[in-house]
Amino acid sequence: AAVADRNIVSVLLEGLRRLEYRGYDSAGLALINEKGLHRLRSVGRVAELTAQADESQACGNTGIAHTRWATHGVPCERNAHPHISGGLAVVHNGIIENHEVLRARLKGDGYEFTSDTDTEVVAHLIASELKKNPDFFAATRAAIAQLQGAYALAVLRESEPDRVVVAREGSPLLLGLSTEGNYAASDASALLQVTRRIVYLDNGDCAELTRTGYRITRVDGTPVKRRETETHLSADAVELGQYRHYMQKEIFEQPVALSNTLEMLGAARSIQPGLFGANCEEVLKDIRQILIIACGTSYHAGLVARYWLESLARVPCTVEVASEYRYRDSVADPQTLVVTLSQSGETADTLAALQHAKSLGMHHTLCICNVPESSLVRENALRFITRAGPEIGVASTKAFTTQLAALYLLTLIIAKLRGNLSAETESAELQHLRHLPMAVSRVLELEPQIREWAEHFAMKQDALFLGRGRHYPIALEGALKLKEISYIHAEAYPAGELKHGPLALVDKDMPVIAVAPNDVLLEKLKSNLQEVRARGGELYVFADADSEIT
Ligand code: M6R
Repeated sequence: AAVADRNIVSVLLEGLRRLEYRGYDSAGLALINEKGLHRLRSVGRVAELTAQADESQACGNTGIAHTRWATHGVPCERNAHPHISGGLAVVHNGIIENHEVLRARLKGDGYEFTSDTDTEVVAHLIASELKKNPDFFAATRAAIAQLQGAYALAVLRESEPDRVVVAREGSPLLLGLSTEGNYAASDASALLQVTRRIVYLDNGDCAELTRTGYRITRVDGTPVKRRETETHLSADAVELGQYRHYMQKEIFEQPVALSNTLEMLGAARSIQPGLFGANCEEVLKDIRQILIIACGTSYHAGLVARYWLESLARVPCTVEVASEYRYRDSVADPQTLVVTLSQSGETADTLAALQHAKSLGMHHTLCICNVPESSLVRENALRFITRAGPEIGVASTKAFTTQLAALYLLTLIIAKLRGNLSAETESAELQHLRHLPMAVSRVLELEPQIREWAEHFAMKQDALFLGRGRHYPIALEGALKLKEISYIHAEAYPAGELKHGPLALVDKDMPVIAVAPNDVLLEKLKSNLQEVRARGGELYVFADADSEIT
């Protein structure tokens, strides 16, 4: 969203272009100029919307824009945002859970729906509130108070051309401030073109932007102040450079991301709890178990850490998927360290699960996160910021490896405080960590060989990933990556489980990928791989040079 002293069409389109990497199926914008409210929408790329804007010589000093990833209603122009009701236009990220009830009520009141989206409900709801209270900001808040679900919203009103109203609950939203106008976006990278001055909104915040200022209130209208920060996001960091796509770039950034994340270790021979926050030592001495909460790839990092925390630090650890934990009736122990993991720090389930854990009386909380200004970091007194740099690719890569590095540091600190880490081992472990960027670079040299495998693999319909011990979560992560990026169905199993069912699926058409480092479970894994061979399965093995897998 933008309200400025200049024509903001190019700012809006460039903002959408910067966020294209997140995936979308349609795009749109709404503008207010001296002729009134105008809307452009297209199914497909932002470039098509740009062509439409050029052709129609679109201009305006106030506007909102959006790329949509269909949730309610198929991808088509009719369902693309902005949605309009009278002289109002709305864009929305998130899902309105009670949209059916609201839709029925609004239809009863005579509102006509032209899309299948949950968002159109919001436009009509604000229009209906404006009939009771002509104040745009107050009416929007009154509408928002009736919404259940997650949203980041931006709203325009034709009769108030110098104003944009925004609100957030569960979806990220920030304001960008500048002398020539004010802006809002779901991610700072969309606004780097116009400003670095950012105000992050909290859940439940609403804001009204004009060309010269802004004000923030809670949904009930209570004014609140939020800190203005300068984003350090570098414009280069979000450019593709020599790479074909962001995922490739970020895979190759892992050595640097790891060195940056581990930089504070310097040449130290011992590790200090202060790395995780001022009173970390005090908190860690008070805990008797660890609960890790996360989603997706971050959850897999947590699963790996459980092996380390239990075997090295000797502290009981459970790992929960955030979207399950937040609704589960669980038993809480106040002497638990609740560790939340997230690349973005904005994952709604993880944030809600943390609130749930706190509400159960667990107040020792720590997060490992890649975005210092995120909601998750603000919610935790103890925190470790991974320094992976912006992760633009939808598939998490360097965020995962830097999370693992941070979790290993946490394990060493807890092991030390519990008397389970000798000075000699500590120094050796730190040395191993320092070697990590180099070791990862060696693995990346395998790219040509892996590319060959991938070509062979590309025509497969399904794949099975196997690992044992702490490499089982690595197999889970491999399967997630394959599904997410290639749309090939993939599953991961602890290799020992193969004979308890999934072996039946293995034949010449089922590639089996195994993670086989030279550790204590290697011989057992080799037997599992024999089972695959016996069924004619095609094996792809990632092994240490001395694993001796033939
Ligand atoms: O930002 P977060 O780490 O909280 O995101 C959690 C998941 O959505 C995320 O890890 C997702 O699974 C990955 N993008 C998969 O590659």
